[in-house]
Amino acid sequence: MPEVGGKTIETLFSAEDIAARNLDLARQISDGHFHDLLVISILKGSFIFAADLIRAMHDVGVEPHVEFITVSSYGAGTESGQVRLLRDIDSDVSGRDVLLIDDILESGKTLKFVRDLMLERGARSVSIAVLLDKSVRRKTDIEADFKGFECPDYFVVGYGMDVGHAFRQLPFVGWVKD
Ligand code: IMP
Ligand code: MG
Repeated sequence: MPEVGGKTIETLFSAEDIAARNLDLARQISDGHFHDLLVISILKGSFIFAADLIRAMHDVGVEPHVEFITVSSYGAGTESGQVRLLRDIDSDVSGRDVLLIDDILESGKTLKFVRDLMLERGARSVSIAVLLDKSVRRKTDIEADFKGFECPDYFVVGYGMDVGHAFRQLPFVGWVKD
């Protein structure tokens, strides 16, 4: 079992499993026949997933524009609460198909906030791709159009996801055992 920063990490999804799944997701996105597609990576947690997914999209012939938005959710401990926009995209989304990429869909508050913002701005459609879906924690009526894996109810790290900015560098997704 990997030891990182003095902690034991139990692997949930290996780098190989994630890479294979990213290619499946890219093919599904390609079948969506999006028009004037703008991909928006929701920072910070999605940066590695988005980087891999957009390259898998390239491999299957999808040619998106790519943007970044930074949002933050404040709440007690690891529970997400109020969502705040920290850094906006630069692009005009009106009339465009938008694909939001996030690391994990949990309560749904983060993705609902960004989706509603893009719809208010006149996006033609807003779809959602997430690596992980922790559906037992959902508190909104939002669902992902493209999802990598159903996630067990652990606080997970790696592949961009952190605890206090640690563990983002791991090429796999796991949870901290001790
Ligand atoms: P939601 O707003 O509750 O759906 O939470 C989504 C955001 O919370 C994600 O974009 C993640 O950045 C963060 N998050 C939720 N669960 C985890 C986790 O298990 N590990 C790391 N980050 C998480
Ligand atoms: Mg996030």
